Amino acid sequence: VKKIDVVRKILADRFQQSPVYQTAEAFAPTNIALCKYWGKRDTELNLPLTSSLSVSLAHKGALTRLTVNDLACDVISLNNQKIKLSDIFSQKLIEFLNLFRAETAPKFNINIDSNIPIAAGLASSACGFAVLVRVLDKLYDWQLSLTQQSILARLGSGSACRSLWDGFVEWEMGVASDGMDSHGQALPAKWPELSVGLHVIAATPKKLSSRLAMQQTVLTSQLYQAWPQQVKMDLANLKTAISEKDFLTLGKTAENNALAMHATMLSAWPPIQYSLPETHASMDKVWQLRREGLNVFFTQDAGPNLKLLFLAQDLKAVTEQFSNIEVVMPFDSK
Ligand code: PMV
Repeated sequence: VKKIDVVRKILADRFQQSPVYQTAEAFAPTNIALCKYWGKRDTELNLPLTSSLSVSLAHKGALTRLTVNDLACDVISLNNQKIKLSDIFSQKLIEFLNLFRAETAPKFNINIDSNIPIAAGLASSACGFAVLVRVLDKLYDWQLSLTQQSILARLGSGSACRSLWDGFVEWEMGVASDGMDSHGQALPAKWPELSVGLHVIAATPKKLSSRLAMQQTVLTSQLYQAWPQQVKMDLANLKTAISEKDFLTLGKTAENNALAMHATMLSAWPPIQYSLPETHASMDKVWQLRREGLNVFFTQDAGPNLKLLFLAQDLKAVTEQFSNIEVVMPFDSK
């Protein structure tokens, strides 16, 4: 099954029609996985080998505006800076947009405002593709359900299918070969005290994409065999922790899940390491603070940065130790 087949199936008779409006704008939050998505069973459709669970980061994400232009090509700008069409960033974006428009259809001005570092393992592709689907839905007036939007966003990047909702989101892996049962789903629980500290260690683009790193891990890592089992356990523990507001279990499970994911990468060949010396130093610091009684945990994605997890009551203690973190309260409605 190809991406375009999924698009055709979801849009049915609206496939490749013209935009209804000249311009549209939308926002999508980025999300941080507490139980990671790592490994695909279908690399074309980004269908995962396991389910995963994330929390969206409220106002941290991407605001994107599409405007139909009368030029021969798309014009892309990111945070008010024009991006060359030959950039890999532009190419991925245009390739995705082309799933939704005929070859002869008008091109767009694409303005993206992102308040997170792009490609620094802070899930920029997650909100990037989710917001594109949202804004296309508006521009074409498709009125798709969030589930349908989630399936389409997944075609851009797996983790994007979790960025259609605020709060906790579970991505059920599904079993269908066309992925119609593989999409995000909001969990109703709210946790106003939950805090995430974005600890940026290097805001430079990563050397190895998560796409390639995942494939290399699945194909070569002996430890990967244990991963689906770990995910099963972690998902169950996280869901209980969320419904009981048991922060220690949430923190422990999320941190252990991230470390296990990175262990599968270290045991791949060639080995994959996203951590920098500063990453390890910060991990040591978190572990030392925990020994001293502070309830702070971390998670890490496909980059050197850490996301600290703690409760609002410990905000002062955590920011005293990590002075340069940016704190996000996922359940803060502002
Ligand atoms: O959606 P992708 O291809 O950017 O992969 C995301 C992978 C992780 O961020 C490491 C894990 C996750 O579940 O978000």
